[in-house]
Amino acid sequence: MQQVVFITGASRGIGKSIAEMFSEQGHIVYGCGRTPFVNSLFHTLVMDITSPDQVNQSLADIIKRHGRIDVIINNAGYDLYGSFEGTSEEEMRAQMETNFFGTLNVIRATIPYMKKQGSGRIVTIGSIGGIMAIPFNSVYSASKFALEGFLESLRFELAPYRIHILLVEPQSVRTNSLELSIQKTKNERLEYNASVLKMVRKMKSDGESKGIDQDLLATKVVSLSQVKRPKFRYPVGRLVSSIRFVKLLLPERFFFRFIQQNFLKGE
Ligand SMILES: NC(=O)c1ccc[n+]([C@@H]2O[C@H](COP(=O)([O-])OP(=O)(O)OC[C@H]3O[C@@H](n4cnc5c(N)ncnc54)[C@H](OP(=O)(O)O)[C@@H]3O)[C@@H](O)[C@H]2O)c1
Repeated sequence: MQQVVFITGASRGIGKSIAEMFSEQGHIVYGCGRTPFVNSLFHTLVMDITSPDQVNQSLADIIKRHGRIDVIINNAGYDLYGSFEGTSEEEMRAQMETNFFGTLNVIRATIPYMKKQGSGRIVTIGSIGGIMAIPFNSVYSASKFALEGFLESLRFELAPYRIHILLVEPQSVRTNSLELSIQKTKNERLEYNASVLKMVRKMKSDGESKGIDQDLLATKVVSLSQVKRPKFRYPVGRLVSSIRFVKLLLPERFFFRFIQQNFLKGE
């Protein structure tokens, strides 16, 4: 069945792949970004998820045209690296505004339409960073851990309306936009600078060399929109699939040392 799909952050990276794949399967697709962009495969919208007015207007326009919204993909977000002390108030709030509150803006705008329809899927792209935290990535982790808790609770409220909440948890993804999606805080403190630079370099090179393919992730996300009885959590990638169990099994101090050894080795 042809579905009406809305994807946030569809101008590049993972969101672009998802939007194009939905479109190639014959669905009606809308994708947004803050900067104007064109894509011959789907409708593009300029919308900032941190603005409730813009979000409400975009959803209302889609409903006006098609009378329904079947799938929402909350994808827009970025990964901020830096020490907590070196993260400015502005950077900290901007990270939460986009990754957490922006996602909530989109969900809040969508619920009334899906409730009225008595159906819908809200798919959110979480992260391995929402399951296990790594060094110098605390505010990003906070945003993705927060989404885990928020969505885990929300699914109880929306289940009676047959609105399914799905949380996709990818490990590093090989995209061609890592320069933009992995951001470093602007004024790092001297004592942390070398470690933060090392982390950023490591995450970018891990993404490029060991990351899962963005089209593979997109295929998974698109297939979830067709699963009859979807689950809640979908880890994507071998590492992220095993990490919950490893965290449960390993004593905390071993896990701490394991992360320290693997990410800050040589400090
Ligand atoms: N890449 C990875 O390794 C990885 C791993 C796990 C999870 N993830 C998650 O996957 C998602 C996408 O990551 P990506 O690597 O594909 O990022 P990306 O390449 O930087 O793409 C982000 C997209 O979101 C849009 N965007 C950013 N802020 C926005 C806002 N406030 N309102 C509307 N659109 C906004 C960007 O367009 P504009 O800049 O024009 O707005 C762009 O289209 C993120 O939630 C990220 O946390 C990524």
